[in-house]
Amino acid sequence: MKRRAYSLASLLLLAGAVFLLPTSQADTNSSKSAAGKNVTFSKDVAPIFFKNCAECHRPGEASPFSVLSYKDVRPWAKSIREKVVNRTMPPWHADPHVGQWANDRRLSPAEIATISTWVEGGAKEGNAKDLPPVPQFADGWAIGKPDLIIPMPEAYTLAASGPDEYQYFEVDPGFTEDKYVQMAEARPDNRKIVHHIIAFIVPPSKDARPRPNLSKEELQKLRARMEKESIFYRDGFLQRVKMDAPVYNDGCAIPESARRGRSSEEAGTLLCGYAPGMNQAIWEPGTVKKIPAGAKIMFQMHYSKVAGSEQKDRSSIGLIFAKTPPQKQLFTRGISNNHFMIPPGTDNFPVTACWTTPDDIHIVTFMPHLHLRGKSQKIEAFLPDGGKQVLLNVPEYDFSWQTVYYAQKPVALPKGTKILVTSTFDNSTKNKYNPDPTKAVRWGDPTYDEMMIGWIDYTIDNQPLPKTTAMKQ
Ligand code: HEC
Repeated sequence: MKRRAYSLASLLLLAGAVFLLPTSQADTNSSKSAAGKNVTFSKDVAPIFFKNCAECHRPGEASPFSVLSYKDVRPWAKSIREKVVNRTMPPWHADPHVGQWANDRRLSPAEIATISTWVEGGAKEGNAKDLPPVPQFADGWAIGKPDLIIPMPEAYTLAASGPDEYQYFEVDPGFTEDKYVQMAEARPDNRKIVHHIIAFIVPPSKDARPRPNLSKEELQKLRARMEKESIFYRDGFLQRVKMDAPVYNDGCAIPESARRGRSSEEAGTLLCGYAPGMNQAIWEPGTVKKIPAGAKIMFQMHYSKVAGSEQKDRSSIGLIFAKTPPQKQLFTRGISNNHFMIPPGTDNFPVTACWTTPDDIHIVTFMPHLHLRGKSQKIEAFLPDGGKQVLLNVPEYDFSWQTVYYAQKPVALPKGTKILVTSTFDNSTKNKYNPDPTKAVRWGDPTYDEMMIGWIDYTIDNQPLPKTTAMKQ
């Protein structure tokens, strides 16, 4: 698969694939026609494309062509056959033998045969009357028309050249009551420079934290001390881990005292995100994210520069509120290790992270996040009764695709379950995406550093939820 031209960089986000439909069942109609001669776009191929490709292959999205019309598809026929037969499209990286995924994008062998036969037979259009309804996207929003659109407070002007930037913008949506979000989508304004968007919910209590009354000098001293003690340092607009910070490749063995400092868990609750190949977050009706009254929305923007021209961006998020009383509230956790160090030249270096569930929970989504040296991620559960269960296995991680895996049935785990995330990294010359195989690598925002996170969204069992709901706007 081709890499995108712009630099893909660090990203920790929650977002999802749109159509929560199983796509891997054999389509008997298509397989019958695949055997025959008269396979056409309108009758046989368009239904597959609309269901499995339109999510990304439509006007205004990051993909190179739209599948919504024959005219747009025809020039790509040969390439489509190749990508579909070798299974680079649709992108999907989870081991099919582990777990069952509501958003499984894989095509069935019958669907692949239909597409292949169609191309070999000259990629004919057929009778336009056979065409199924073309999927509609409201003003580009895949979730439909949002109840509320929240843009960045103002347009940001990005310089023409230089390193990537992480910029943060806070917006007060002015909620005077708790809001329950059923669907959320982050939409980039300027796709040339927006590498990723993550929208966080910042609860009001954070702002209310008392600030000590310190003089400027005392404040400077305090800041200097904190910087010295922290494993992190600032490098321009980026956060990185110091080369000489203590090393723990086994995240389950990190002592409590070393866990201080910024961690993915403390970043705030994720609301939704955007990254190449994925967009919106859609949960089961009644399973919602809560935005408490008085909360703010924080945009984390990762910008890549376009050489030669200054660019502006004002991205936004769209929200659809729950129309029925909420039954389950979603929580996000990044099970992460910030303390690892990957030696230069190693081609299969393991790093782990752990989290023990404090309650009975149900996991709804999983999302591995590593950078360019990331090779694989496996998420396993060690149950209190001694049982073991593999929850997700991504044997060939690909940084180009930040896929959120939606469990077909939320995964029940009792209190006291140890969740173990194991990732491997290839920091050798064998990895053609490796920015520098001669360097030891630590955690950091930029893609030439690494990350190691297994994101999960989960609900807590028997959690009381308010009987009333802020269903109105
Ligand atoms: C999750 C989003 C997504 C889905 C689903 C998806 N694609 Fe793609 N596709 C992309 C993006 C983004 C690119 C461009 C980047 C790349 O090639 O890696 C692409 C590239 C391609 C290319 C290569 C074009 C070239 O430059 O040669 C083909 C062919 C293709 N897709 C066909 C399909 C077909 C057919 C389907 C459905 C059966 C599909 N894709 C589903 C996102 C998607």
